[in-house]
Amino acid sequence: MLAPQISMRERMSMYNANALKIGLFGPNCSSGRAVTRVPERWSGSWPDNLRLARMADEAGIDFLLPIARWKGYGGDTDYQGATWETVNWASGLLASTKKITVFGTMHAPLFNPIIAAKEFVTADHIGEGRFGLNLVVGWNEDEFQMFGVTQREHDARYDYAQEWIDVVKLAWSDRADFDYGGRYFNHKGIRAKPKPFGGTRPLIMNAGASDIGRAFALRNCDAFFTNHRSRARDDTEAKVRTVKAEAAKYGREIDVYTVGVVTCRPTIKDAEAYHRHCVVEEADWSAVDLILAKKNITAENHSPADFQKARNGYAQGMGGFPVVGDPDEVASILFEMSQAGMRGIGISFVNYADELPYFCDEVLPRLKRMGVRA
Ligand SMILES: Cc1cc2nc3c(=O)[nH]c(=O)nc-3n(C[C@H](O)[C@H](O)[C@H](O)COP(=O)(O)O)c2cc1C
Repeated sequence: MLAPQISMRERMSMYNANALKIGLFGPNCSSGRAVTRVPERWSGSWPDNLRLARMADEAGIDFLLPIARWKGYGGDTDYQGATWETVNWASGLLASTKKITVFGTMHAPLFNPIIAAKEFVTADHIGEGRFGLNLVVGWNEDEFQMFGVTQREHDARYDYAQEWIDVVKLAWSDRADFDYGGRYFNHKGIRAKPKPFGGTRPLIMNAGASDIGRAFALRNCDAFFTNHRSRARDDTEAKVRTVKAEAAKYGREIDVYTVGVVTCRPTIKDAEAYHRHCVVEEADWSAVDLILAKKNITAENHSPADFQKARNGYAQGMGGFPVVGDPDEVASILFEMSQAGMRGIGISFVNYADELPYFCDEVLPRLKRMGVRA
């Protein structure tokens, strides 16, 4: 099984020269990231995912990032009630595309790392080096109960994940027939072939928001995803600078990414009206409140103003920066993020496949003229 050699740098650049990487976040889930009742909301069906991935690949979108979600949130729409298992989803899409990087998102506590390492290698060979791993430790208690798995206390989740990723990386390495003995894992005679595609390993990302989660990402990952909510250049620069400085303490370089929710229409007025229609007038408020309750954000423990702010934020895309406007405005927001040091952004739309063509036709050429897309 000889494959051409590729470098980690090629993987990290996603095999292209785009200074600002743009990916689609969440299309493997019904409704995607918009908690809305509008009938055109994202189906998440396989034919729609396949159509979207091919369209994105053709248009030069850099990556697809799925959400590992096992149980819908309920509400009027059973928000994210139908979801694809993400490594299988990635494998199918990698087989059907040519250039785009496709991530699988894995809950470390739910999978044996030796099995997971082989799943990743399989996807990586199908995509000839285009598979990426988003490693998550989980936060949703009742989702874990469904598996009969008890959530560890918050910080212990990342201790466990450290051993988990160490085992995965060892299984990917050239070592053979070795034992691993740790606090959480005891494996004898590990032998795992083939290795990842091209003599290197898949790109790894994590989005820990706590201090311990961020430290885990900085020690182990190539890309760190934030949920950055400010448009002010100073704030964004400070965020990126802090993360990079902290990574340097571990002797590592890391790329910083963020997430955004795009509504792009020919005029700002139209974009704002559609955004309001989907995530205010037609928001699935019952689902929003169920999501917030899982995060212990309730009307009882928040002031009315703070609670409503959280509700509005979650309705429009489970958090994420609202990128609402005409093509000039949308391109400006993305350009500013890039100038402030963000390496990329995972975006979502109410209906990814319906809205992506306009975004690609109007926004990508502007970003190219601005010098942040090749
Ligand atoms: C871009 C992004 C993607 C994420 N994907 C998932 C996911 O698919 N499944 C999941 O359970 N959590 C996901 N999370 C949650 C994070 O992994 C993490 O648990 C959360 O940010 C809280 O941080 P903490 O674990 O450090 O407290 C995601 C967060 C972000 C910002």
